[in-house]
Amino acid sequence: MVLYPDVQRRAQAEIDLVIGRDQLPAFEDRASLPYIDAVLRETLRWEPVVPLGIPHATTSDDIYDGYFIPKGLLCLAISRDEKKYHDACRFTPERFIDDNGQLTDDNPAHYAFGMGPRICPGRYAADASLWAAIATMLATLNISLAKDDDGNAINFTPEFRTGVTRHPVTFPCSISARSEIHSELVDTLRTAM
Ligand code: HEM
Repeated sequence: MVLYPDVQRRAQAEIDLVIGRDQLPAFEDRASLPYIDAVLRETLRWEPVVPLGIPHATTSDDIYDGYFIPKGLLCLAISRDEKKYHDACRFTPERFIDDNGQLTDDNPAHYAFGMGPRICPGRYAADASLWAAIATMLATLNISLAKDDDGNAINFTPEFRTGVTRHPVTFPCSISARSEIHSELVDTLRTAM
């Protein structure tokens, strides 16, 4: 969201329109928030959390688009395929939205969680947690570039570190409540936990 403020604005506009500004999105609202799901899909595609898969004692290889791909690299090969995803390095949730504003049939969850008998058993929990986190954060927070003491935005180039999982290197950013109402909503959540 720090790097793609337009995505944040469009996502917040969808939430404000469908949910309003005085309550939080709930799972029942998911079908009415296609752009939020598109953000989730693009999150799984853009910088896959498990890009190389988890090594197993035995691995199987695959053919993708006519090319032989060692098993672990399949996710990355698909998610960065320029023929499938134009400008694949850009975070563009719109690629999963059709002309009618609905989600397309392409869902990176179909490869980001692996395939076959060793497919991620946590994929449904992961999908629900990601949706809840993304929807709640976008509903309540503004995320933007941090500013230095003179008020100038601190730009940065995102870096990712790969181990068993892939994650962003710490980066400067500013996170604030979208409004007093949103701040109270988060407090309500905190006391309910
Ligand atoms: C965004 C979140 C997640 C992603 C992208 C992800 C992705 C993956 C991938 C790609 C694999 C390897 C599948 C293969 O080798 O074919 C895997 C395996 C696995 N995942 Fe996840 N995972 C996520 C969250 C979770 C969660 C929340 C749990 C547990 C609640 C979980 C539990 C496991 C386990 C136990 C395996 C090993 C399965 C096996 O080897 O049989 N994962 N995951």
